[in-house]
Amino acid sequence: MIEIIKKIIRGVILSIRRTDIKINSFHIGYNFLPGRGCIIEREAVIANNVTLGKCCTISKRVILENNVTIGDYSAVNIGTMISQRTKVGNFSSIGNNCMIGNGNHAIDYVSTSQLLYGKNNILGVKTSFDGFTKTVTICNDVWIGNNAILMAGVTVGDGAVIGSGAVVTKNVEPYSIVVGNPAKLLRYRFDDDKIKFLLKNNLWENYSNHLSTIKKLIEQQENWECF
Ligand SMILES: CC(C)(COP(=O)(O)OP(=O)(O)OC[C@H]1O[C@@H](n2cnc3c(N)ncnc32)[C@H](O)[C@@H]1OP(=O)(O)O)[C@@H](O)C(=O)NCCC(=O)NCCS
Repeated sequence: MIEIIKKIIRGVILSIRRTDIKINSFHIGYNFLPGRGCIIEREAVIANNVTLGKCCTISKRVILENNVTIGDYSAVNIGTMISQRTKVGNFSSIGNNCMIGNGNHAIDYVSTSQLLYGKNNILGVKTSFDGFTKTVTICNDVWIGNNAILMAGVTVGDGAVIGSGAVVTKNVEPYSIVVGNPAKLLRYRFDDDKIKFLLKNNLWENYSNHLSTIKKLIEQQENWECF
């Protein structure tokens, strides 16, 4: 009960202190650092040490576990779970009901049940088991379709697209589109020259230095004049 009251007070203080962000969730852990213009929808659960860049949207029923970091202008849609220490870059869009990284149970111990070897196990056994050693990195401008699953430890390169329902078990190359279970390359979004140009100019990491280029390329749609 005291914990719930503390959370409510923390949420209210945060909303009053930061009038430039819209927080409807009271499930917020300690050391939450949202950038300006963020929107946190109701029923979102934000654990401890979570950092958001500016203008991120965290939709309802999203779960951000401890130490998740998300860059500027990224969006996480309804019901998605992002596991601890995941890093997401700028301008990335994550669909509904995705599972981004997940902990593992031991498969070499006599039992798979964490209750027999995990933290606070019923036997009082001390083991070195950590189910969260591998973390997920989602770079910039990544689009992840609904219901995708990203296994622990994968890196998704800049500009990649993950099809809806994909199960990503390996790293995903920049500007590739992967689909299926296990996820396989469908095609690349652009030809080699365009991909080289995008990676060389690193448009999304330091986007504020490249806004006029980005604007021009968006206006030109697929017919970029730089080629
Ligand atoms: C991955 C995606 C972007 C590909 O779009 P596309 O390039 O227009 O692909 P196409 O529809 O031309 O399909 C090309 C092939 O890929 C297959 N395919 C497309 N999406 C697929 C998916 N998610 N899973 C498995 N196969 C898929 C198609 O069946 C087709 O196969 P074929 O060549 O054997 O007939 C799109 O299908 C997708 O999954 N979008 C995500 C939608 C979503 O979840 N939105 C949420 C909003 S945040």
